[in-house]
Amino acid sequence: MSVRGAKKRIAILTGGGDAPGLNAVIRAAVRTAIWVYGWEIYGVRNGYDGFLEPDGVFPLTLDRVLGILPRGGTILGAANRGEPFARKEVRDGQEVVVDVSERIVARARELGLDAVIVVGGDGTLRSALRLYEMGLPIVGVPKTIDNDVHGTDYTIGFDTAVQVAADALDRLHSTAEAHHRVMVVELMGRHAGFLALHGGLAGGADVILIPEIPFHFEVLAEAVRQRVRRGRQFSIFAVAEGAYPVGGQPVYRRTGDAFTVPRLGGISEVVARYIEEATGVESRFLILGHLQRGGSPSATDRVLGTRFGTMAVRFIAEGRLGMMTALRGDDIVPVALEDALARHRNVDPNGELVRAARDIGVVFGDEVELLSSSTE
Ligand code: F6P
Repeated sequence: MSVRGAKKRIAILTGGGDAPGLNAVIRAAVRTAIWVYGWEIYGVRNGYDGFLEPDGVFPLTLDRVLGILPRGGTILGAANRGEPFARKEVRDGQEVVVDVSERIVARARELGLDAVIVVGGDGTLRSALRLYEMGLPIVGVPKTIDNDVHGTDYTIGFDTAVQVAADALDRLHSTAEAHHRVMVVELMGRHAGFLALHGGLAGGADVILIPEIPFHFEVLAEAVRQRVRRGRQFSIFAVAEGAYPVGGQPVYRRTGDAFTVPRLGGISEVVARYIEEATGVESRFLILGHLQRGGSPSATDRVLGTRFGTMAVRFIAEGRLGMMTALRGDDIVPVALEDALARHRNVDPNGELVRAARDIGVVFGDEVELLSSSTE
C-alpha cells in the first residue's frame, strides 16, 4: 500500500547497548518508509556518533535490509558512550567531556531530516528527549534486555534474553544435580529485576534475587539447608546483577566516570561464597553476561520489533513527534517520551508475578520466617 503525501527524509539510529530485535525495527522502518510513504530513510552509524562522522549517515535501501530479520546486534552499530551531552573527546592529548548536542541538531538540519527514529534504552531515550526539546523532531522506540523503560509493557530484546537465561538454567540443573552443588547464575538487568524474575521462573530457579527485594544471606543459606533436608541436594539461584543484601549495596566491577555508567557485576560470587561457607554445600557461580544480548532474536522480539518499526514511521507521518512507541496489552500506542522517562520501571515486589513465584516455593531471600522455623 502506498500513501504518498509530502515526501519526507528521515533517519534511524540504535543507541546504548545492543539488544536482539534491533534489526527487525530497522527493516520494518525502512520498508514502511519506502513502500508505504515513498520517503527517503537514512541510517546513522554507532548511535548519535554517526551525526559527527563524515560518513556516519548513509542511505538505507530495501536491499540493505535484506536478510537481517533473524540477525542479532544491529546493522547500524551501537555506542554505549555516545551520550551527546557528555561525550568523551581527546583534545590536545587530553580527555575532555564535550556537549555535542548542538552539533547533532545542526547536522540533522543540514541533512534536511524531517525526523529521527531513536531506538534505545533509558539513557539513549533520555538524550532523545533533550534533543527533541532542542528542536530535533524525534520518535523513540524502546529496546533493552532490562525491560526497565516505563510506559511500555515490553521492550525489544527482553524476550530473547529471558529465553537465553531460561536455557542456561535448564542446562545448569543437570550438572548441579549430578554434583550436588548450588549454582548461582548472575543475570543482567541493571537495577531492575525483570530479567532475573522472568528468566528464573522460566528456568525453574529455587531462589531468585532481584534489586526490588533486598535479601538476607542467612535466609538463602536456610533455604539451601531445607532443600537438602527434603532430599534435594542441589539448588539453582537466579540472581540479578543489581541484587543486594538488606543494609548493603549492589556490587560493582567498575565505578563510573563522566563518560561511562558504573558496571555492575559480582554479586553471584559473593552469594556463592557465603552459601558454601554457611551450608557446606559446594557452590559455584556463573555470570551469564553478554550471552544474554547476543544471538538471533526470538519470534516475539522479531514481531515486536517489526510493529515498533512500522509504528515509528507512522507516528512521523501523523506528526506524533516526541513520542515513543509502546506496547500496552495487545496494542502499540504513542507515549510521550517525557512521560515514559518521568520514572524508572521496576518489578512490583507485591505484584502478581512475585506472588506466583512465592506460591510455587521460590525464595527471594526476604522470608525471615524461614529462620525461626529452622530452630523449631
Ligand atoms: O542495559 C543493558 C545491559 O545489558 C545491562 O543489563 C548491563 O548492566 C549493561 O547493559 C552492560 O553494559 P555493557 O555492554 O556496556 O557492559
